[in-house]
Amino acid sequence: MFEGKTIIVTGASGGIGVPLVRRLTNLGARVIAIDVNPDGADILGSPNLDTSKLIYHCSGLEDEASCSALLEQESHIYGLVHLAGIFVPDDMASGDTEAVYDPVMSANVRNVYGLYTSIRKALLKETSARVVLVSSLAFRRGAPGHTAYSAAKGALVGMARSLARKEAPNILINVVAPGFIDTTMPQKIIAKRGIDAVLGEIPMKRLGSADEVASVIQFLLGPDSAYITGQVINVDGGIICS
Ligand SMILES: NC(=O)c1ccc[n+]([C@@H]2O[C@H](COP(=O)([O-])OP(=O)(O)OC[C@H]3O[C@@H](n4cnc5c(N)ncnc54)[C@H](O)[C@@H]3O)[C@@H](O)[C@H]2O)c1
Repeated sequence: MFEGKTIIVTGASGGIGVPLVRRLTNLGARVIAIDVNPDGADILGSPNLDTSKLIYHCSGLEDEASCSALLEQESHIYGLVHLAGIFVPDDMASGDTEAVYDPVMSANVRNVYGLYTSIRKALLKETSARVVLVSSLAFRRGAPGHTAYSAAKGALVGMARSLARKEAPNILINVVAPGFIDTTMPQKIIAKRGIDAVLGEIPMKRLGSADEVASVIQFLLGPDSAYITGQVINVDGGIICS
């Protein structure tokens, strides 16, 4: 499905990133995996993954210059999936602006603004290029005690809607908003609230798997989503019904 196509995945060595990279390489994509984790290449080097089609960059995508430097050799880029993010609580307490808000905005949204800017020309060389930004249930309904995170995930939706209108039909830009997915990221909040309380608000009565998010991202990258742009797809077991 993705033979001859280059797809960038940020947050690639995280819980959702690994099954996504596995899917994309299995389907023929050349994947440029980016993650701030210095162990990311080892994590992605698992037996089920075709590493011959994988390039790993350890980077936090701090600024436009570092994004451009990483990808300056790439003349054609078909896809970008932005999974990089951190989920950090806040309390609107003194010092949270610098200690939480700034790093949360940087890791979740500022980085993809710079990354998109630096690869836009390469995306426009492809016909029907694809961008998938990963937001969250936290934006849809607001996560108490995670104000900066909720704001960052909302910023991604605004960014996607603006870009979708600007770039159609050349680049299609959509958002996936996961609910409670079984990776390390939500484990602290699940432990704090109790698994029964969390499952009690999910109509499907279970956590989602990382691969169930990866499959929706695959659909948005693939030929079957050719008339979809500017949308937010909830992958949350039915928590948000609208
Ligand atoms: N797991 C869930 O329940 C859930 C729910 C809603 C939204 N999400 C979103 O899905 C995405 C992936 O989540 P996950 O469960 O795989 O989390 P994860 O923590 O397993 O993976 C996130 C990855 O992003 C990387 N990262 C963090 N900051 C970075 C930066 N500045 N540059 C590059 N890489 C960076 C981390 O090293 C990590 O590998 C995140 O954006 C998260 O907010 C997850």
